[in-house]
Amino acid sequence: MALAAKPPLGWNTWNTFSHEINEDLIKESADAMVASGLKDAGYEYIVIDDCWSLRERDENGHLVPDPEKFPSGIKAVADYVHSKGLKFGIYSCVGTHTCAGYPGSYDYEFIDAETFAEWGVDYLKYDYCFKPRSADGPTLYRRMAMALRNCGRDILFSACNWGEDNTTEWIRSSGAHMYRSGSDILDSWQSIKTIAASQMDMEKFSGPYCHNDLDMLVVGMYGKSHNGTIAVNGGCTTEEYRTHFSLWAMMNSPLMIGCDIRNMTEETKDILMNKDILAINQDTEVRTPCWRKEWDAVPETVMLMFKPLENGDYAMGFFNFYDDDCGGRIHFADMGLPTHGYGLRLYDLWEHKDLGVFTDRYHVVLKGHHCKMLRASVVKL
Ligand code: GAL
Repeated sequence: MALAAKPPLGWNTWNTFSHEINEDLIKESADAMVASGLKDAGYEYIVIDDCWSLRERDENGHLVPDPEKFPSGIKAVADYVHSKGLKFGIYSCVGTHTCAGYPGSYDYEFIDAETFAEWGVDYLKYDYCFKPRSADGPTLYRRMAMALRNCGRDILFSACNWGEDNTTEWIRSSGAHMYRSGSDILDSWQSIKTIAASQMDMEKFSGPYCHNDLDMLVVGMYGKSHNGTIAVNGGCTTEEYRTHFSLWAMMNSPLMIGCDIRNMTEETKDILMNKDILAINQDTEVRTPCWRKEWDAVPETVMLMFKPLENGDYAMGFFNFYDDDCGGRIHFADMGLPTHGYGLRLYDLWEHKDLGVFTDRYHVVLKGHHCKMLRASVVKL
């Protein structure tokens, strides 16, 4: 079956829990995915990241789940996740070891793919640490893709080589369904801003069946990560998380939640389950956004993006990367609208309100780090 026609949606252990994972956490998170409404909103994958196995393979070369963390084994956990109507994901690495030092799949690709299939895995995140210098990265991704495509089960392949070795040039042909082309996210505004800016030019390589992954979301973490490499004191403000989510949605990134979904604030739920924003991310055509820099006063502050949607509408996003108020505008002619006879009806995707019909252009002033997300419908005047 063809997987990942649209950017995958789910949850991953790494951002909040790092190595502090176990089967209760996974089961409780699957429960929370359903009870909170995330599943109904479209989130589907529950993914265990690094640190789930023992430090050594068994005598037959198989990976062994850590019996302290997963006393019932991975298959039982996968079965539980499936019983909730969700899909189950796990993690391995191109190299001899994972980034946290557990066994990697180098030279064990086909054995591991078979094991994952037996366990009922639906998604594999595949990292890039400890790759032997003599080995060719693209070939190793191709090898695991081939193993997964022939293991007897549909397993979505999530590549994670952080943009190294010119990922975008070969990743689509490798068979991967999504790929990280940038560095790890931190729970900070600076990190969100840097990743978004660095990935704008990568967007043209992203599309159905192989999506550019801007990294997992930090929405709702508020500095509460147990993960020393991700945590930043205090994290971000709700507004910054809203802008982060809007950027990722607009840029067609997979949306893999990174907060503790068992304990979300109402604000976090409102962000992650905003159906209007999710619809922009999950539009059938997954069109690359067109972007430009538009600002009133301070250069390099307000980014504007727009993209065509399946039904003839357009998604539009204004993002203020500056720390203070700043304005930006869009001239509708730049999107293709004739200068007379037509206008755009604008709908605000965070306020959930119709703003009326505008002709010629739309101008917005945004507070520092805020965004404006709109859906525009073409109308004949
Ligand atoms: C990094 C990866 C992170 C996480 C971590 C686990 O390389 O980018 O998302 O998976 O390894 O050790």
